[in-house]
Amino acid sequence: MSLLEAKVSIVTGASTGIGRRTALDFAAAGARVALADIAVEAGEELAQEIIRLGGAAVFIKTDVSKTEDVARLVDLVVGHFGKLDCAFNNAGIAPRGAAIADMGEADWDRTIAINLKGVWACLKYECAQMMRQGHGGAIVNTSSTMGVVSGPGLAAYSASKFGVIGLTKAVAIDYARSGIRVNAVCPGGIGETAITSAPENQQDMDQLAQMTPMGHLGKPRNISEAVIWLCSDKSDFITGQALSIDGGFTSW
Ligand SMILES: NC(=O)c1ccc[n+]([C@@H]2O[C@H](COP(=O)([O-])OP(=O)(O)OC[C@H]3O[C@@H](n4cnc5c(N)ncnc54)[C@H](O)[C@@H]3O)[C@@H](O)[C@H]2O)c1
Repeated sequence: MSLLEAKVSIVTGASTGIGRRTALDFAAAGARVALADIAVEAGEELAQEIIRLGGAAVFIKTDVSKTEDVARLVDLVVGHFGKLDCAFNNAGIAPRGAAIADMGEADWDRTIAINLKGVWACLKYECAQMMRQGHGGAIVNTSSTMGVVSGPGLAAYSASKFGVIGLTKAVAIDYARSGIRVNAVCPGGIGETAITSAPENQQDMDQLAQMTPMGHLGKPRNISEAVIWLCSDKSDFITGQALSIDGGFTSW
């Protein structure tokens, strides 16, 4: 049996990069997938691609920084697929960094609103739905190696990603006895995503590859395979953990 057979899942930030790969791999593992993103065209194309490949998918336009969008997302998923079993709360941005004295308040607010409050909103409505159903669930949040250690110009990004790990642990404890497991993944430098392929980030990415003990960046499938396992019953005694998937980066 496939690892996510008959499960219904949400993937946020599904239109590109790590989210896109995970949505495709969730569907291949047997899940019905709700794709949530602000990028409509790419998200709708991905839903069609999953359906063409024999899977079940629906795209639901969602801005995770808007709590009402997230509440609506969970309602629509349950309306469409009848339940919610797992979620990958992955939408995030990585704005060009500046030291804190030079950082505008708007950059701070936007980063926290999407990367941290967005995960808070997803957890809130996903856990509420899983509690109504009464048979547990599995949720994975995307943090970062920059949620474990930090780097230059990353005050807002790093604060948001450290926050995701704190949220993960707190919510895991609150719902552990209800069978809802909550974990985080902490990707290191992952190539083939919109963030890492942007020409202005190339120098940083080359440097990151050199700083990685394995000497190269990861691929989106390195993350999706761990997320599938964490959402599956194979990891049913694991909750509140932050798994670094980083070629050894945080082991220095
Ligand atoms: N690529 C890396 O090296 C790396 C490393 C560590 C952590 N991450 C994290 O992984 C996650 C995915 O990033 P990625 O590398 O695949 O980048 P990406 O830019 O390819 O994907 C991010 C997705 O999130 C969507 N998104 C942005 N704002 C949104 C919002 N308000 N509401 C809904 N969707 C929104 C984007 O449209 C995009 O589809 C992010 O949380 C990022 O911080 C990435």
